[in-house]
Amino acid sequence: LALLAPRADLDGLIVAVSTGGTREPIDPVRFLGNRSSGRQGAAVALAAADRGARVVLVAAHVDDGALAEAALHPRIRIERVNTAVELEAAMEREAAGADAVVMVAAVADYRAAHVPDRKLSKEDAEGPGLTLELVRTPDVLVGLAERRRGGQTIVGFAAETAAGEDDLLARARRKAARKGVDLLVANDVAGATGFGTADNDVVVIDGAGEVVARARGTKREIADVVWGAVLTRRA
Ligand code: CTP
Ligand code: CA
Repeated sequence: LALLAPRADLDGLIVAVSTGGTREPIDPVRFLGNRSSGRQGAAVALAAADRGARVVLVAAHVDDGALAEAALHPRIRIERVNTAVELEAAMEREAAGADAVVMVAAVADYRAAHVPDRKLSKEDAEGPGLTLELVRTPDVLVGLAERRRGGQTIVGFAAETAAGEDDLLARARRKAARKGVDLLVANDVAGATGFGTADNDVVVIDGAGEVVARARGTKREIADVVWGAVLTRRA
């Protein structure tokens, strides 16, 4: 019977998870976006909630249906955001009371330096091309790691187009160090797995660059491995 009972090993934990891709306005009707489906973050939220945690899922733009299951879960609350700046505000607020924070969202790295109140028109253009000035968005994960409370676990995700396993690990180690995270889940999207696909192939490293887990499987299976790694760190 114990085998049939759901795991409740995250019982009592409060977690904040981000998912989806931010959209940065260029003018009132256009934006810069990315292809994140939001499904991996939704799976991370569902896995935590099924294991007993209370979850806030901060969701930027996601594919149709990606949040359907999460929206029905009694322990998941969904907060919608659009831009990197909005996502930062929501995550800063939710992280304040959280035991674990997982940044799965594909946060835009750049936003338009100036957003006009009116639609850009070819009539106003100076020549045949258009040059958009972009500025960096805030690095949400770095900020969350800097303001980490005692006992709080900070997890980042990184999709890399790496040239093989060694390159993936090297990139992941540099990123984990730069971000100051406790765990980084690195995913090689150069091959068949990753964005928009059902299965993932990941390596989980800690802040010191040690490999703590490897996993291949569905987004839900990856999510459960990530929570296992969080629990191991907290033990
Ligand atoms: N991230 C973030 N804020 C940003 C950019 C990224 O919080 N402005 C988070 C992502 O949610 C993810 C992690 O940082 O958890 C790694 O994202 P990634 O895009 O791989 O890292 P970058 O630092 O943006 O590096 P790169 O130049 O490789 O895109
Ligand atoms: Ca990036």
